[in-house]
Amino acid sequence: MISECQISSKSFGLTPDGQEVLLFTLEVPGVIKASIMNLGATLVSLFTPDRNGQMGDIVLGFDSLAGYFQEDYQQEYCYIGATIGRVAGRTNHNQFILDGKIHHLPINQGDTHLHGGVSGWDRKLWEAEVFEEENEIGVLFKLMSSNSEEGYPGNLTVSVRYSINENAELKISYEAITDQATIINPTNHSYFNLSGDLSRDILDHRLTIYADRFLPINAEGFPEGLLKEVDDSPFDLRNGEQLGAVLADNHLQLIFGHGIDHSFELKPSGINAEVYHPKSGRKMTCTTTAPAVQVYTSNYLSGAFKGKGGVAFRRHAAICLETQGFPNAANREDLPSIRLNPGELFQSETIFKFTFE
Ligand code: BGC
Repeated sequence: MISECQISSKSFGLTPDGQEVLLFTLEVPGVIKASIMNLGATLVSLFTPDRNGQMGDIVLGFDSLAGYFQEDYQQEYCYIGATIGRVAGRTNHNQFILDGKIHHLPINQGDTHLHGGVSGWDRKLWEAEVFEEENEIGVLFKLMSSNSEEGYPGNLTVSVRYSINENAELKISYEAITDQATIINPTNHSYFNLSGDLSRDILDHRLTIYADRFLPINAEGFPEGLLKEVDDSPFDLRNGEQLGAVLADNHLQLIFGHGIDHSFELKPSGINAEVYHPKSGRKMTCTTTAPAVQVYTSNYLSGAFKGKGGVAFRRHAAICLETQGFPNAANREDLPSIRLNPGELFQSETIFKFTFE
């Protein structure tokens, strides 16, 4: 076990139907501290140091469990910090065909099946178990997602493993097996604001995505068309750009997304993305085995509900790097498959590493 690290757990309160939710805190003092609850296997807070050694919470969330149940929050479908499944994002026409059979997906947001549906993985109470290993400490969350739940075939046994280590890394990994052919495309929906002051926006953050192509969307936010080269567009983020400048561009795709709300095609090795906040010096790198990242600049946060410290979370309050397969991949032969067959093991891993400059 790593020296001086700490794991603790406590009750985070009761759900409206009386079930106890647990909050787990993992800490390497002065380096990284993460709290995760078993409702939705959700990252609730994440503290990292700025260049002066000042620890600050760099993810949106709520101070108490009740915050996650407030009506105004639930109506915005923003999934703060949650594990998303069985399939992240939007699936065109809310349906997919698998082995000749059409599967209809129930709608939850407007007329869209978004992020796993009405009672997706973000709403589930996961089984949880803490662990300590030679180089990391963490929590393993497990869930049984039953056949035909939210329209998806197959009984799926799924786990999400969160861990931290002395190198200031937060690792999130997923595994799943199924008893019938199905589709799976999970992600984590954390909203990062590296300033450590959640009342600020992220327009002064610099974003780098090492991607040559992105997936265009239509005016309703559904993927449309082939992967497109980022060249000569605001989606060329390979050299790092200030988000304020990127989001001020009037490119049609940014108008359709109300900001960035797009998937980028990732390279199979090396760092995939970086976010840097010049004022605090905090830098986050993201490395994943997933084929894509959905970058979302909190375009639909409206300020209607209050989060940590009574702060109303507004448009561009944070940035999400949702590592995953491409949205609507179930209906596309040209994108990496999200199909899982019996006898196969689904695996995906993302490492967020925190440094300062
Ligand atoms: C989607 C957005 C959505 C947000 C919150 C993102 O993954 O692409 O369109 O508003 O999640 O649900």
